[in-house]
Amino acid sequence: MGYAEVYQRWQEDPEGFWMEAAEAIDWVKKPSKALFDENAPLYQWFADGELNTCWNAVDRHVAAGRGDQVAIIHDSPITGRQARITFAELKEKVARLAGALARQGVGKGDRVVIYMPMVPEAAIAMLACTRIGAIHSVVFGGFAANELATRIDDAAPKAVIAGSCGIEPGRIVPYKPLLDQAIEMAARKPEFCVILQRPEQEADLIPGRDFEWEAFQEGAEPADCVPVRGDHPCYILYTSGTTGQPKGVVRPTAGHAVALNWSMKNIYGVDPGEVYWAASDVGWVVGHSYIVYGPLIHGNTTVLFEGKPVGTPDAGTFWRVIAEHDVKVLFTAPTAFRAIKREDPTGEFVRKYDLSGLRALFLAGERADPDTVEWAKAQLGVPVIDHWWQTETGWAIAANPLGIELLPVPVGSPGVPMPGYDVRILDEGGKELSAGELGAIAIRLPLPPGTLSTLWNADQRYVEKYLSTFPGFYETGDAGYRDEEGYLYIMARTDDVINVAGHRLSTGQMEEVLASHPDVAECAVIGVADELKGQVPVGFLCLNAGSGREPAEVVAECVQLVRERIGPVAFFKQAVVVERLPKTRSGKILRGTMAAIADGRQWKMPATIDDPAILDEIEAALATLGYPRGNGAAG
Ligand code: COA
Ligand code: AMP
Repeated sequence: MGYAEVYQRWQEDPEGFWMEAAEAIDWVKKPSKALFDENAPLYQWFADGELNTCWNAVDRHVAAGRGDQVAIIHDSPITGRQARITFAELKEKVARLAGALARQGVGKGDRVVIYMPMVPEAAIAMLACTRIGAIHSVVFGGFAANELATRIDDAAPKAVIAGSCGIEPGRIVPYKPLLDQAIEMAARKPEFCVILQRPEQEADLIPGRDFEWEAFQEGAEPADCVPVRGDHPCYILYTSGTTGQPKGVVRPTAGHAVALNWSMKNIYGVDPGEVYWAASDVGWVVGHSYIVYGPLIHGNTTVLFEGKPVGTPDAGTFWRVIAEHDVKVLFTAPTAFRAIKREDPTGEFVRKYDLSGLRALFLAGERADPDTVEWAKAQLGVPVIDHWWQTETGWAIAANPLGIELLPVPVGSPGVPMPGYDVRILDEGGKELSAGELGAIAIRLPLPPGTLSTLWNADQRYVEKYLSTFPGFYETGDAGYRDEEGYLYIMARTDDVINVAGHRLSTGQMEEVLASHPDVAECAVIGVADELKGQVPVGFLCLNAGSGREPAEVVAECVQLVRERIGPVAFFKQAVVVERLPKTRSGKILRGTMAAIADGRQWKMPATIDDPAILDEIEAALATLGYPRGNGAAG
């Protein structure tokens, strides 16, 4: 059956389609039906079924006689370590940690924040939570204490599980002091912490609050899998919104298991037992869906890679991992390939390794620029598949479904809608646009299984942020168009989210931080096209009258402030002091025009601009940073 037929089958009978997909999941109690729409526009899938995610990801493979198959390969060029964990070993480790958590009072519905580097214990902690029905919320290690505190306050976790440190090229990042600061700042303190001591840097523990990973589990009874309802949250994952308050995406258990399992074969084209590698981080949605849950639920071996595409030790690391572990499918962000291409444009490292086992490369997280896609295709000789999705959806909205049929998707397009997604391009009034016309991309409700059901403790905010602009639709926040053949093109965000090295960041949040600097009267942050990272943030600062400060000093303090408050991942390194910001007559800052000037793109003088002369000042200020750089290709 080809893609068109599969998509049509879903269109004709969406519930039947997903009930059939649900058969591949082990249920304690089968759901009576697929869709629960009583609370529309909030929807649930398989709500009255009962199941356990950890059972589906781990135990069932052991029960089926695959206990000796490797579940997780930890490949850590940054520490020089490797480990292989079979499904049977994984079950034992997860059950023991789950037992220890339960002994300490963590149960169904309790939240657990996980703040860990790319070590197997991160996946073990996630699975241990789902085993006992606790709801985990993983926080990416590149976020600062303040961001961790915001998430702790929103999720109100009973416990935090953390690593003592992360390791970045050339430096150790001590996580524990960040955790201590975050707990200090948070209003809702966790009862206890479990700390994995890494040999690179052990952490000081606070007696009575902190437990060492091994000691915590000593003598604990292994816990069994606790059945939960289909609509029970499997996890909360915070993502950037338009303000400093991150949005807690809630992922219900049943839809998550069903959709991810379906996607492994149909989208990625892998069979159980094969090695699948998503080179991302467990702190991002790609890590949740395709390092941990998707591959494990489907019975694949997953690779947990602790390193960078370049510099650990060289631009051949990815190829070594593929050759050494017989990786069949690789998934990463285009920025990783841009980094490799920059260091090894002729592919010398590529040819050092036997990559004959690799069947496809999938890219997502940001726009895949045609240069990078063509380079990857030429070097690897396998299909390079761009696919489009977001934290909220948890799996691909649009892709080229390799496991169903490899479509002739033009370079520049992430393909066609996956079953479950009725994608529409709408104008500002919600009217559907024709082929080739650029508009807001929306998805007709209900969203499919595996997507978010709401925001944590914030149904109203979910409705306001996502479901209100176009009634009956979910607003993706992306703008784009569909061509005559039905292929989608994702062009830009309609909000202030920017994408830096595949990391989703909010310029609004950075502005909030800058505005808190005592000498800053007003500010704006824009995303500027960058050859390597896709986009990088650039700040504009107006200082308080009579502040008398050296602009360079304030800029340096602001750069440091964003690093301290949001984290190094924000990559806020450039700012300029200007007299005024360009605004419309109603006072709206013209960020889009500023970004166009920085990128050297064509732009039109906005009709509503208050004082056009300000744009000359902006142009001059950007010139001091070297913009435009004529490298907008990636953006
Ligand atoms: N803990 C602490 N700090 C971290 C971190 C972590 N887990 N991850 C990144 N950082 C820091 C980096 O050290 C860097 O700090 P610096 O400014 O002091 O150098 C900063 O955050 C920015 O990191 P990043 O944007 O990742 O840049 P980089 O130069 O370290 O690496 C790439 C560039 C392209 C190699 C890297 O971004 C990459 O591999 N990206 C893939 C993106 C990805 O996996 N996206 C997920 C969706 S698929
Ligand atoms: P995140 O929630 O971090 O996964 O970021 C999701 C956002 O990244 C999307 O809303 C898009 O703006 C962007 N994005 C993800 N994948 C793609 C893609 N294949 N092409 C273009 N943009 C993408």
